[in-house]
Amino acid sequence: MAKAPAPITISTLAAMKARREPIACLTCYDASFAQLLEHAGVEVLLVGDSLGMVVQGQDTTVPVTIEQMVYHTACVARGRARALLVADMPFLTAATPERALAAAGRLMQEGGAQMVKLEGGAAILDTVRQLTAQGVPVCGHLGLLPQSIHRLGGYRYQGRDHAGADAIRHDALALQAAGAGLLVLECVPAALAQEISLMLEIPVIGIGAGAETDGQVLVLYDMLGLYPGRSPSFSRNFLPGHASVGDALAAYVQAVKSRAFPAAEHSPL
Ligand code: KIV
Repeated sequence: MAKAPAPITISTLAAMKARREPIACLTCYDASFAQLLEHAGVEVLLVGDSLGMVVQGQDTTVPVTIEQMVYHTACVARGRARALLVADMPFLTAATPERALAAAGRLMQEGGAQMVKLEGGAAILDTVRQLTAQGVPVCGHLGLLPQSIHRLGGYRYQGRDHAGADAIRHDALALQAAGAGLLVLECVPAALAQEISLMLEIPVIGIGAGAETDGQVLVLYDMLGLYPGRSPSFSRNFLPGHASVGDALAAYVQAVKSRAFPAAEHSPL
């Protein structure tokens, strides 16, 4: 009997980075899509708090609660067999180490998450240290931070000037030193994302960050054209020209693996 493929772990992703094999990641919010994504070869399923916008119809990710994240993470966990399951820590749950430990505990114990993702740099380093010291695998998230949308005043590229780029470089190194095992870089210039990917030992997953990161992630509802709102210019709808959702997902994985996606038009900077 054929052996089942080994589960994807953080070590698998580190080995993929070492051999320069791009990592395919997508957001996922339910069990049926978890199965489809895995079947297409997606290695990392991210239960993103983008579900607030694409599933719940909220204007931002800010209203998403830990209860809702646990619910969707558990749905995805029931559909996955092999992919690494990463869940977002919702707004303010990383504000103190105590709150973060409680939220991460729920995502892992009730939701079945294997890693938690936190937005931010310098302000959350102590939290990241405490989570990793307690055995919680952490994915950082730098660049555009959607949970800070009301402070930022809009979904804009980050790290475009010297000081902004320097802060992102510095935060990336600090998150790695604090124990993060993975980093998402959102909406930063492609050259900066490439530089950070080469500089860090941990894998870097880009979204709106050019083709030279160690992997790519997109919001599932954007890459299937399901979201009725405006999709970001760095995204691509993979459904046209494909006979099924499964074929479109497989095309995404293939485009990530061959670095055909993102193309120049998806990386405006
Ligand atoms: O919530 C989310 O979907 C995310 C991705 C955009 C990386 O954080």
